[in-house]
Amino acid sequence: MSNELLQIKNLKTSFRIGDDYYAAVDDVHLTLNKNETLAIVGESGCGKSALAFSVMGLHNRAKIEGNILFKDQDIVNISSNNLNKLRGKDMAMIFQDPLTALNPLMMIGDQIGETIFLHDNLTKDQRKAKVIDLLNKVGIPRAEHTYTQYPHELSGGMRQRVIIAMAIANDPELLIADEPTTALDATIQSQILGLINELKQDMHAGIILITHDLGVVAEMADRVAVMYAGEIVEITDVLTLFEDPLHPYTKSLLNSMPTSVQAKEKLHVIQGIVPSLQHLPRTGCRFSARIPWVPESEHEEHPQLHEVRPGHFVRCTCYKSFEFPEAHKEEQRHGIS
Ligand SMILES: Nc1ncnc2c1ncn2[C@@H]1O[C@H](COP(=O)(O)OP(=O)(O)OP(=O)(O)O)[C@@H](O)[C@H]1O
Ligand SMILES: [Mg+2]
Repeated sequence: MSNELLQIKNLKTSFRIGDDYYAAVDDVHLTLNKNETLAIVGESGCGKSALAFSVMGLHNRAKIEGNILFKDQDIVNISSNNLNKLRGKDMAMIFQDPLTALNPLMMIGDQIGETIFLHDNLTKDQRKAKVIDLLNKVGIPRAEHTYTQYPHELSGGMRQRVIIAMAIANDPELLIADEPTTALDATIQSQILGLINELKQDMHAGIILITHDLGVVAEMADRVAVMYAGEIVEITDVLTLFEDPLHPYTKSLLNSMPTSVQAKEKLHVIQGIVPSLQHLPRTGCRFSARIPWVPESEHEEHPQLHEVRPGHFVRCTCYKSFEFPEAHKEEQRHGIS
């Protein structure tokens, strides 16, 4: 049997705004193997959650084109009945915003119990014991008490742990974790990352880890996809990403890391933000506006993601000659920024 858990081919996810559709995810090709953690990084608004929601079939009104194969089965046009069977059991997600993912009117214990109930046939007592065990596992103190609480009675960090307990309840084969630890303090963060790693090691799960934190990427990921304005602009193994990044955007992201080993002197970070969907350039390189010092002639009409060495893909035509502007480097060296 193939080792590929997930294959995404030519995925385009568009939202209707006014009379038009605008793509938040465009031309995305990805594979995820069993027992592999793929990190997805990129600034706010670049389409990471839109991609995750597409895989989980959670968009209500988006137009989804392309193929998403989960264990060789296309899940883009799957019936909602079959999707519900997969969701929560074979594939699960830790949501970025825990409040929207919890039912405010239901006790914590019942919510987690229900996730298990839908996919298992344990007795009531066995299920309760399993929920308590999960609450302990995700570091919730006084699990018996929390079992009877409602979401609004818990802090943000506790709610996030409940979401994580729900996601790992049925030992999913695919776990998508969307900023799973952003709201948590450092000790709990490493505990949660440890749990995610356990799922990978013990169950050979495939993990998609969405994060802004490149420290977390370094610690957790096997491969990394960098997204910009809906597209993947670079994808490679984690070591290569840190040691030999090629896309100007990836270089800039790495330079913005406070603990970057290269950051003995302050390095150049590209200014600006990801354009909103309505303001994406319809043609040309989507990133070119943020590197205006690179001559137009060096940008391809619309660069394609291409393999520059085995397993290392880049969407850029100017990366070979790309440099941050000397003038700016000089200013930084003299402490002017
Ligand atoms: N339901 C929607 N309708 C219209 N536009 C949307 C919708 N959901 C997301 N978008 C837009 O799609 C783009 C990508 O959003 P997305 O939430 O995927 O970004 P993200 O990379 O997850 O950002 P963050 O790091 O802030 O979570 C943004 O421009 C966002 O405004
Ligand atoms: Mg997001």
